[in-house]
Amino acid sequence: MKTQWSPSSWRSKTSKHQPIYKDETQLKDSLDKIKKFPPLVFAGEARSLKSKLAKVSNGKAFLLQGGDCAESFADFHPDNIKNSFKVILQMAVVLTFGASCPVVKVGRIAGQFAKPRSSDKETINGIELESYKGDIINGIEFTEDDRVPDPTRLIQAYNQSASTLNLLRAFSQGGYANLNKIHQWNLNFVEEENANKFTEIADRIDECIAFMKACGINDTNVRQIYETEFFTSHEALLLDYEEALTRIDSTSGKWYDVSAHMLWVGDRTRQLDGAHIEFVRGIENPIGIKVGPTSDPDELVKIIDYINPNNEAGKVTLICRMGADKIDNYLPAIIKKIHKEGKVVVWACDPMHGNTIKSKTGFKTRPVKNIFAEIQKFFAIHKSLGTYPGGVHLEMTGSDVTECMGGLQQITDEDLKNRYHTFCDPRLNASQSLEIAFLISEYLKDEKILSLKSSQI
Ligand code: PEP
Ligand code: CO
Repeated sequence: MKTQWSPSSWRSKTSKHQPIYKDETQLKDSLDKIKKFPPLVFAGEARSLKSKLAKVSNGKAFLLQGGDCAESFADFHPDNIKNSFKVILQMAVVLTFGASCPVVKVGRIAGQFAKPRSSDKETINGIELESYKGDIINGIEFTEDDRVPDPTRLIQAYNQSASTLNLLRAFSQGGYANLNKIHQWNLNFVEEENANKFTEIADRIDECIAFMKACGINDTNVRQIYETEFFTSHEALLLDYEEALTRIDSTSGKWYDVSAHMLWVGDRTRQLDGAHIEFVRGIENPIGIKVGPTSDPDELVKIIDYINPNNEAGKVTLICRMGADKIDNYLPAIIKKIHKEGKVVVWACDPMHGNTIKSKTGFKTRPVKNIFAEIQKFFAIHKSLGTYPGGVHLEMTGSDVTECMGGLQQITDEDLKNRYHTFCDPRLNASQSLEIAFLISEYLKDEKILSLKSSQI
């Protein structure tokens, strides 16, 4: 039975992965401040994203969602934001041009600070401390001081999100994303083969733009050439923070979480009767649900009914993260069930979280070949069922890191130590991300999946 929803109704449910703050007064003080801060996004933008995702659910566009596993206070730098934005733009161009498919661009950025951890505590040399739970909660240094949850971090996370968003808006709308500047998006450390392939596309786009200019269509009269739309998202994990940023939109009179355009619920917190599902059921933003191998198809249908009772297109994105070795066993039954029940969803593939291994040199890594394999299988499964593989969800960065093994750069186990900078999970670097975009563009193009009707099941 549904009870009355409010931004705080999650408090009556079991909430997993929430920190315990020692000083309740300090926490209240931070939350009271945030409640008065301006919204980070506008409800109208979240509605616009929803209508774009509705097109994805219809097979008419592709969702590209990506960014850091965990943003950090230490890596807060305009170059990092710019480089991540650049790679996403490049990937989107590869997909739009290569596969003639509109791309909905959503960053894991400007708020992706809270992390669920497999273990609440970490022990090193007999000393036990709280695990690192993301910069919005505690610090990564293995010291008592850093690991104690600190409510003032909520304010810092809000402020960093606001300035990150400010720069992203400037890049998207201030001329940086102008297709006339496409050659300037190239990142100098991208592996040669990828860089050349991208330059080829950029050259062809130049030709198209010159042709359009000759016809009188240019960046002063066509907005889509001059600017792009870029949305933000993060895991709605830390519910105190999300509640403080949940407001009634004066236009529609409905509740929106104005911390990001899209929020998702993680694989560890997606229980039907849990606090996270309770929280997201009341907000109008597009919602992602991570779907791992332990997902029960019947429970998933109930969750979808609960958060999207009117079956509104674009509302729910199922972000499937099975692992290359498990996807064939688990995903088909889930797709069949959801379609049998007539639920309209976006099917996205997160090929990262099911493919994490420990390398021989002791690093948490992800082999690019397994990431590729999961994407490949995701497309193949959808093709065989006549459903539409609508998007990918990637942990990636524009920086030249060595965190995932393989790819055209042939990063080996020995190379991982060179530039292993992530605060949490291993990310694809710019070169590996572009490779993935070329791979997906081939699937979208060759299989002509776009023309398939999602009702063929
Ligand atoms: C994540 O996306 O960073 C994450 C923790 O994923 P999942 O909930 O799928 O494990
Ligand atoms: Co992660």
